[in-house]
Amino acid sequence: MKVQQEFSKSAKYYDSYNTIQEQVAKKLVSWIDNKPKNILDIGCGSGTIYKNIDWQVDRFTGIDFSYLMLKRHPRFNNVALLYRDFNDSDAFKQLLPMGIDCIIASSSLQWAKNLREVFSNLALFNAPMYFAIFTSNTFDTLNKTANITSILSSKQQILRCANQFSVLKQQTQRYILHFDSKRKMLNYIKKSGVSGNRNILTFKQIKKLMLTYPLDYLEFEVIFLHVVT
Ligand SMILES: C[S@@+](CC[C@H](N)C(=O)[O-])C[C@H]1O[C@@H](n2cnc3c(N)ncnc32)[C@H](O)[C@@H]1O
Repeated sequence: MKVQQEFSKSAKYYDSYNTIQEQVAKKLVSWIDNKPKNILDIGCGSGTIYKNIDWQVDRFTGIDFSYLMLKRHPRFNNVALLYRDFNDSDAFKQLLPMGIDCIIASSSLQWAKNLREVFSNLALFNAPMYFAIFTSNTFDTLNKTANITSILSSKQQILRCANQFSVLKQQTQRYILHFDSKRKMLNYIKKSGVSGNRNILTFKQIKKLMLTYPLDYLEFEVIFLHVVT
C-alpha cells in the first residue's frame, strides 16, 4: 500500500491515535523563536501544528498529499491548505514569493523519498526551519522481534542530509507508548499511520509477532532539528 493511501486510510482515526505526534508537535512549536507571522507547515495533516501555535499569525500555509487529512485541518481566513506532494520539487515553487518566515515539518518528513532533495527545495525559502523526524529506532524491538529492517532513515542518515544547513539546535528524544493489550497495540500500529504499513507481514506472522513481542509498549525515536540556510 502506498504511503498516501495509508494516510488517507488512517485519516479518520488519526486524531485519536496521534498521542506521540501531539507531544512531538508541542515540543517542536516550543522551539520556534520570534513568533513568525507567515508559516509553512509541510505534511500538516489534520492541524496538530496549527492547533499548538498560540500567537497571532498573518498566514498559515499547510501542505499535505492526503485530502482526507486536509479536510480535518482547522480552516480560517488566514489558513491556506494546499494539496501537494512534498517529494515533488515543483510543490514549493508557487510559494517561494510568499515571504515565508518559518518552515515547520512535524512527524512527516520520515516519508520523504529523498530527504536531501526535499531539504534543498526548502532551503530556497531562506527561512528558519524546524523539523521533527521519526528515525529507524522507532518500533526498534518490534522490528528486531519480527526480523524486519526499518523503512525509516537512521538518525545519522538524517543528520547527513541536514549537513547542507547550519544546525542551530538538535535533540534526539525517545518516547514510549504503553498498551494494556496486544490487540490495542496492533490496532495502534495499523491506525496511527506511523508504520507506513507496507503489509510486510502476513496476518499469521503478525499474530505470531504479537505473541512473541516482549514489551507492553512501543518505542519511538524522533530527531528534532532547528536549522537555517
Ligand atoms: C504522521 S502525520 C503528521 C501530521 C501533522 N504534521 C502532525 O504533526 O500531526 C504525517 C502527514 O504527512 C503527510 N505526508 C506524508 N508524505 C507526504 C508527501 N509526500 N507529501 C505531502 N504530505 C505527506 C501525510 O498525509 C500525513 O498527513
